[in-house]
Amino acid sequence: MINQKVLLFAALLCFGTAAPTIVTAETIAVIGTGSVGSALGPRFAELGHTVVYGSRTPEREDVLALLAATSGDASVAMPPAAAQMADIVLLAIPWSVAEEVLVSLGDLSGKVIIDPINPRVVDEDGWRDYPSYISNAERLQALAPRSAVVKAFSTFSSSTMIDPGAVDHSVTIPLAGNDLAAKARVSDLCEALGFETIDFGPVRFAHIIEGLYLLRANARQNDFDFEWNYVISKTP
Ligand SMILES: NC(=O)c1ccc[n+]([C@@H]2O[C@H](COP(=O)([O-])OP(=O)(O)OC[C@H]3O[C@@H](n4cnc5c(N)ncnc54)[C@H](OP(=O)(O)O)[C@@H]3O)[C@@H](O)[C@H]2O)c1
Repeated sequence: MINQKVLLFAALLCFGTAAPTIVTAETIAVIGTGSVGSALGPRFAELGHTVVYGSRTPEREDVLALLAATSGDASVAMPPAAAQMADIVLLAIPWSVAEEVLVSLGDLSGKVIIDPINPRVVDEDGWRDYPSYISNAERLQALAPRSAVVKAFSTFSSSTMIDPGAVDHSVTIPLAGNDLAAKARVSDLCEALGFETIDFGPVRFAHIIEGLYLLRANARQNDFDFEWNYVISKTP
């Protein structure tokens, strides 16, 4: 792994007396430069991570504008080159191409793959539904058995990714994945961005997390919008 393992005392440097936020700097490939890629890429970079965007058209004007808006030593490359440079690969791409794009990235052994993807079809009566009862995350994990797939960032909007403070409560990110160390790294990343996380178990439970998107999307059909927050009850 190309993990620099540099400890950054970011908050201490930025805010003087504030308690230090210790972040392990990683190289994160953000594959896809749409709503999610352009929301999370700059925020990862603000934390001190090195961001490399993977775009099918790296020379496109909006991609170069996104690169310019991303701090640190950010770069852009074709998706396979970007993924090969990274410790962590975020697949910010449509579900319909997720498997073919993953395969096209080459050997990702030893890397963490973050899956924010929400597979869905629109039924004839207008409601969103699962296209398959095998989750996207399980499909990706089967295709990349020597990588650690972690389901994360799928349950809330890209605008909340940019600014978690725009919601008047904390936002919880449910995680699923087989590799505990990988989940801990993704959890640290989510928390550094200002979110809470809950580990919902191995990747075989990712279909439930993907269902949370369907519930939210269907509620929005009825003009009811929300972000998930799990209130932790204290056991007696
Ligand atoms: N939007 C949200 O609020 C939100 C929230 C949570 C989860 N998600 C999930 O996150 C994923 C990304 O969502 P998004 O809203 O960022 O999507 P989007 O705006 O449509 O962007 C997807 C990006 O994927 C890349 N891509 C690679 N191969 C592609 C192909 N064959 N066809 C089209 N695009 C391709 C494109 O980047 P290049 O052109 O640079 O290659 C494109 O900009 C989706 O699976 C979605 O379900 C979205």
